[in-house]
Amino acid sequence: MSTVREIFETMEYGPAPETADLALSWLEKHQRTFHPFINGEFASFTDESYFESVSPRNGQSLARIVQCGDAEVNAAVGAAKVAFGPWSALTGHERARYLYAVARQIQKHARLFAVLESLDNGKPIRESRDIDIPLVVRHFYHHAGWAQLRNETFIGYEPIGVCGQIIPWNFPLLMLAWKIAPALAAGNTVVLKPAEFTSVTALLFAEVLQQISLPPGVVNIVTGDGRTGELIVRHKDVQKIAFTGSTEVGRIIRRETAGTGKKLSLELGGKSPFIVFEDADLDGAVEGVVDAIWFNQGQVCCAGSRLLLQESVAARMLAKLRRRMEHLRVGDPLDKGIDIGAIVAPVQLQQIRRLVEQGKAEGATCWQPSWALPQEGFFYPPTLFTEVEPASTLAQVEIFGPVLVTMTFRTPGEAVELANNTTYGLAASLWTENINLALDIALKLKSGVVWVNSTNLFDAASGFGGYRESGFGREGGNEGMYEYLVPSWERFLPVHEEGEIALDPHPVAHSRNNASVEPLIDRSPKLYIGGKQTRPDGGYSFSVENANGRYVSEVGLGNRKDIRNAVEAANKAGSWSRATAHLRAQILYYLAENLSVRAAEFSNRLISLTGVDEGEADREVAKSIERLFYYAAWTDKYDGQVHQTPVRNVTLAIPEPWGVMGIVCPAERPLLALVSLIAPAIALGNRVVVNPSWRFPLLATDLYQVLDTSDVPPGAINIVTGHPDELAKALAQHGDVAALWYIGSAKVSAIVERESAGNLKPTWVNHGKRRNWLDDQQAQGWEYLRHAVQIKNIWVPHGE
Ligand code: NAI
Repeated sequence: MSTVREIFETMEYGPAPETADLALSWLEKHQRTFHPFINGEFASFTDESYFESVSPRNGQSLARIVQCGDAEVNAAVGAAKVAFGPWSALTGHERARYLYAVARQIQKHARLFAVLESLDNGKPIRESRDIDIPLVVRHFYHHAGWAQLRNETFIGYEPIGVCGQIIPWNFPLLMLAWKIAPALAAGNTVVLKPAEFTSVTALLFAEVLQQISLPPGVVNIVTGDGRTGELIVRHKDVQKIAFTGSTEVGRIIRRETAGTGKKLSLELGGKSPFIVFEDADLDGAVEGVVDAIWFNQGQVCCAGSRLLLQESVAARMLAKLRRRMEHLRVGDPLDKGIDIGAIVAPVQLQQIRRLVEQGKAEGATCWQPSWALPQEGFFYPPTLFTEVEPASTLAQVEIFGPVLVTMTFRTPGEAVELANNTTYGLAASLWTENINLALDIALKLKSGVVWVNSTNLFDAASGFGGYRESGFGREGGNEGMYEYLVPSWERFLPVHEEGEIALDPHPVAHSRNNASVEPLIDRSPKLYIGGKQTRPDGGYSFSVENANGRYVSEVGLGNRKDIRNAVEAANKAGSWSRATAHLRAQILYYLAENLSVRAAEFSNRLISLTGVDEGEADREVAKSIERLFYYAAWTDKYDGQVHQTPVRNVTLAIPEPWGVMGIVCPAERPLLALVSLIAPAIALGNRVVVNPSWRFPLLATDLYQVLDTSDVPPGAINIVTGHPDELAKALAQHGDVAALWYIGSAKVSAIVERESAGNLKPTWVNHGKRRNWLDDQQAQGWEYLRHAVQIKNIWVPHGE
């Protein structure tokens, strides 16, 4: 025992343990054995097998938990399906009361939840007590509000049904709250699977649901590893999958759900930059780094794991950082004076060690503090790497541990390039005292969340989620609610029988050098790429017939290479995304005006090609003009929000265009469907590569001149005629296509979803359901605008 004098001299911390008694007696009450929570009860099945849940602080077993299989998952989904009808029929207020009761009950048992979480996950009690659990409570309060307001806020939307939710181990109860609260608020029922390393707080949560008398079946919790997750993903009665975890499993789930009609949101990995400019408050930035990469042992999807330093302050910042690292304390998660707790499991510890060794082998310099780690448990010291090459493993791969890598930059432009030099795009933190620079950089970062002079701030009122391979969809705020709702009109759409509309003629390939078709070549419209009419790469064309089967013309047959060229042209047309909304609106109006001048010509074309009568053709052209006006109107009005988050800051939710979008049009309504799909996409700043109606492409090729005369910048709209099956696949596989809309058959919808898994681009497909393009409810509006953007949340703190 140290004397007071000794303590005064050394200023050593003494232990400040939080007692585990409450949590341990709760575990004992359940004989340390847990069953899944199905239909309101902890259910036992025959042939149960168990897995151990181990505490990372000492490697000792906490509990044994059922590895759920078919029987459990079927029962859980069945219960959720039965519960859906009555639950979704409750009033918003009734659902709000349940969510409010959950919030209150967790608040009352906050200490038990916090201690159990730290025992199970290894995170410092300071974090589970002051961050995880309060945020869980806040989430249920916030969503009690959305439950109450759903009908008046999300007009025309309805719940989806049974939602399968699969969560990771890094924030067990918080991820549960992020998933369950919005799902229930929207009126869905849930089957949730916690991660196999961290299931116990989900089971304590199930007890809370019993205490507040939540109707049985509304929330079901099945335990187990990835195999249980797979069963949920594959279950035919699950209509939505929400997943948080590794990008690798996210890809598997994207492929697995392709073509099933299941709605999907993915919150995946990251390699988030933490950028320090030379005018930053360096001491503040050092504390920021501590929160960015050593919060939760760095096992955070949005951890600021890449420290980007302006060269002029790099040495000073690193010296301060090393000094700070010497004073960090790693140890028992239940010690209230601990900064860094235990790594969740040996397998994760090995992964960290392996990547650190690889980093050293690749030539980076590793620095760790001088102190020793605890003997017992799974611990890893805070680690700093310098001399890191931007393309190296350390700079690119998510380590998911307390390992920070640093690189330097000279100019703000270089900082943006380095920051965006990753396949991910989850979060970014930037530090400068110059607000102009901060906002300029924030808008240039490809990242779903940007924290200015702050890091790792979360709140239920703000959306959270990634760009690029960090996934798609948002959690929190009204953005997150849409992930659990569908437009009511979708339910009533008729499904195409495969081949029902005989709009799939076999292409007759004609070689450019084939003398017999030579005279036709001049008459065959080409592709429209980068503002120019371009011959298709293969030199082939296909014949177009009118509705009576009479040959009309040849049209260029685009292939994968043409898609590549079109994407390249669209990539170069970045100025369209940066143009003011006013300018984009003007151009849409101009397009409408020029189409209007040639309305009779387009109408005649529709009559002669598609066989519709005059009235129908006039209606299609008039509706196309109206739709251009409609989206011109929205261009400067779809303008984001300032979220009401509780810390002193302004949280700006900014809709940003995806960048380059692919659009594949249906065979029918060759002018109107084309306009209805292109207009919202370009109105909000996307550049598009479009495959128009295969059956009647001349309506699109006639539009080239209208585009030329309407000041559409080259590359903003690119049109590749050809077979949609082939071109949709090429667009889905293209790494530079950031989002893809496909309207056509169920078969190709499935291909598009599956093939999009490469760069995890969000897709919007119709699964063969046919829209009425003349109906404003189905063919224009909010749903189109929402799918044309991703939301970036920028947190800007204020105060002296
Ligand atoms: P994981 O992605 O394998 O696990 C996440 C959840 O998915 C768990 O509940 C797991 O049981 C489940 N799962 C696994 N395979 C599945 C499948 N085929 N179908 C359905 N569900 C499945 O992550 P894991 O193995 O725990 O960690 C591996 C790496 O993933 C970490 O080193 C880290 O880099 C990353 N990770 C990222 C997270 C994030 O929040 N972005 C969270 C956890 C891990």
